[in-house]
Amino acid sequence: MLTAREPDGVANPYLPVRTRFFDDLIVSHSSWATQLVLLGAGHDTRAMRLPLPAALTVFALDQTDVLHRTEQVIAGARSARGPAPAWVPVAVDLGDAWEEPLLTAGFDRTAPTIWVAEGLLFHLAEAQVHALLKRVAELALDRSLLVADAFGSGLLDLPTTRGLVAHRTSTGRPLPFCTDAPEALLRASGWTPERVVEPGQAAANYGRMHQLPDDWDGGSAPTLRTYFMIGSRGMPGTAGVARTDLSTPEPIGVL
Ligand SMILES: C[S@@+](CC[C@H](N)C(=O)[O-])C[C@H]1O[C@@H](n2cnc3c(N)ncnc32)[C@H](O)[C@@H]1O
Repeated sequence: MLTAREPDGVANPYLPVRTRFFDDLIVSHSSWATQLVLLGAGHDTRAMRLPLPAALTVFALDQTDVLHRTEQVIAGARSARGPAPAWVPVAVDLGDAWEEPLLTAGFDRTAPTIWVAEGLLFHLAEAQVHALLKRVAELALDRSLLVADAFGSGLLDLPTTRGLVAHRTSTGRPLPFCTDAPEALLRASGWTPERVVEPGQAAANYGRMHQLPDDWDGGSAPTLRTYFMIGSRGMPGTAGVARTDLSTPEPIGVL
């Protein structure tokens, strides 16, 4: 079973739940997409780990040293797996323009694509996030789905983040990106909001988290909210976007 722990050893279900939610979304849409772009890919091994079509091309965008380590793991897994998607590393700074390296690496703007920004937006400043999502929208000429996660601004009030906020403020550096308006963020960046889910709600729970009502409004006390945002382009209405297959009822097993 996939687990994540805080430094004090307490299990934190957030990362396994996020991983599984993104896994489900990617697998359930991999029948129509021919490209998967991982923005801030880190050590993402989905190209080898998930049952994805071998015809899919996975573009992994991150910093050079991070991609180098991931490449070694992917290469090791490939020999054991059989037919698997092509995995193309693209070293870029996602806080700046990165379109040309992606196009040079073979990205086809006219091909149906799933874009993933998992665990990335928090690492960028607000202006960089808006520019990033707009850049993606401009590259997405055919059917495209975007899935990203973002924290609500309550994160910046937590005792564990106050030190970071104070340091950033005193050194004149931008605060980590948070949003309390995920649908508006998608819309402003050229994406049609399809769905926003908070971990703990039925579609992102997997028996791991305290159940949040689907109509939860965050309550009255300042709290930490997190959003899994799904946006689309070139997929009018719900056509092609399966809204009900994002969760599985059974608890997470071995991934
Ligand atoms: C929290 S990790 C998430 C990795 C992976 N997507 C996951 O969910 O496990 C954030 C990743 O974003 C990358 N990243 C952050 N800022 C970046 C930037 N400006 N340019 C490229 N990559 C960046 C980091 O190197 C890191 O691999």
